[in-house]
Amino acid sequence: MEMGEDKLWRVLEFYSGIGGMRYSLMKAGVNAEVVEAFDINDTANDVYEQNFGHRPHQGNIQTLSAADLDSYDAEVWLLSPPCQPYTRQGLQKGSGDARASSFLKILQLIPQTSRPPLMLFVENVVGFETSDTHEKMISMLREISFNTQEFILSPLQFGVPYSRPRYFCLAKRKPLSFRKAQVNSYLGAPGPVLWSDENVVTSQGVELNGYWDKLIESCRPIEDFLDLKNCVSDAEESKEGKRPFNNPLKQYYVPSALIERWGSAMDIVFPESRRCCCFTKSYFRYVKGTGSLLATVPGMVKDRISSLQDLSLRYFTPREVANLHSFPEDFKFPPHVSLRQRYALLGNSLSVGVVAQLLCYLFADETL
Ligand SMILES: C[S@@+](CC[C@H](N)C(=O)[O-])C[C@H]1O[C@@H](n2cnc3c(N)ncnc32)[C@H](O)[C@@H]1O
Repeated sequence: MEMGEDKLWRVLEFYSGIGGMRYSLMKAGVNAEVVEAFDINDTANDVYEQNFGHRPHQGNIQTLSAADLDSYDAEVWLLSPPCQPYTRQGLQKGSGDARASSFLKILQLIPQTSRPPLMLFVENVVGFETSDTHEKMISMLREISFNTQEFILSPLQFGVPYSRPRYFCLAKRKPLSFRKAQVNSYLGAPGPVLWSDENVVTSQGVELNGYWDKLIESCRPIEDFLDLKNCVSDAEESKEGKRPFNNPLKQYYVPSALIERWGSAMDIVFPESRRCCCFTKSYFRYVKGTGSLLATVPGMVKDRISSLQDLSLRYFTPREVANLHSFPEDFKFPPHVSLRQRYALLGNSLSVGVVAQLLCYLFADETL
């Protein structure tokens, strides 16, 4: 391999969706270029193309061969495979779920390539780490001489008032090694390892009194992630005692019938709150367990509210969800992408703030 300061890492982005991994790579400031992205979803590829000026390779990743992979001559592979095989709603069938096959196939191809990657990065839901796919992934990576480190991390641990714990696996082919070698292969036992900027915090550390409470206190308020212009108009209209049906957020207000039916199951947050729940791909279609709703009445009257109907509850807008995912300001959806599709694509995506930190760590000390 050619050595030199200027050489860019060549990166493949599998399951690219709307490009969360690519934004993370950019935010990490790594000297890297995405030489190809792969996704089967037309709409996701439209969004990716609009923002990066390149349309991902459209098709099933499962059909790629070792020769195809070799043709990209890439040193780094980023993968965020489908998570349904590892979720309760997806029935937790693990590798028995057809949606896990393409990921396993890609891993199986690594030893068949003539230029295997030097580094891998995998993102998935919590629950993946106890699946048979995880077991297969780790044993395959060990067989082909990769050191692995695994983390379960949430944006809350990086100052963002957003609970979205996710599983991450970082892998480097020997002789490459990690800076914090003490946590190599740590996830299996005694439990998940979590990360903070300076330290590695073990699962025992996280269970200590007040770890999460202190973190949440130190997060920025949700209002920092709202569309300020809209936020002001909400508050003003509420002060005048009107429901804000004339403002641009009209379509985001939760209908009274839904509040009546599902109010007790809703996770309600205020602009001054320092935590909100994970937005899933079903946000806006269902209210229960799909993400938080925002009370738009000004904070000081909160205590005087007698009914949920008085809170002027609304959904977070796609832009606000993107903000909580730490997507850059210039990220845009093409106009033809519907509101439901926007939420679905964002719900499938990832926290750029968290992944960027992990990518910095993965690439630390490595030059080509
Ligand atoms: C969990 S999402 C990853 C999203 C992405 N990281 C982002 O930032 O938007 C999984 C993605 O994989 C794509 N996908 C699932 N199975 C695939 C397959 N067999 N071949 C290609 N793409 C696939 C889906 O369309 C979806 O966009």
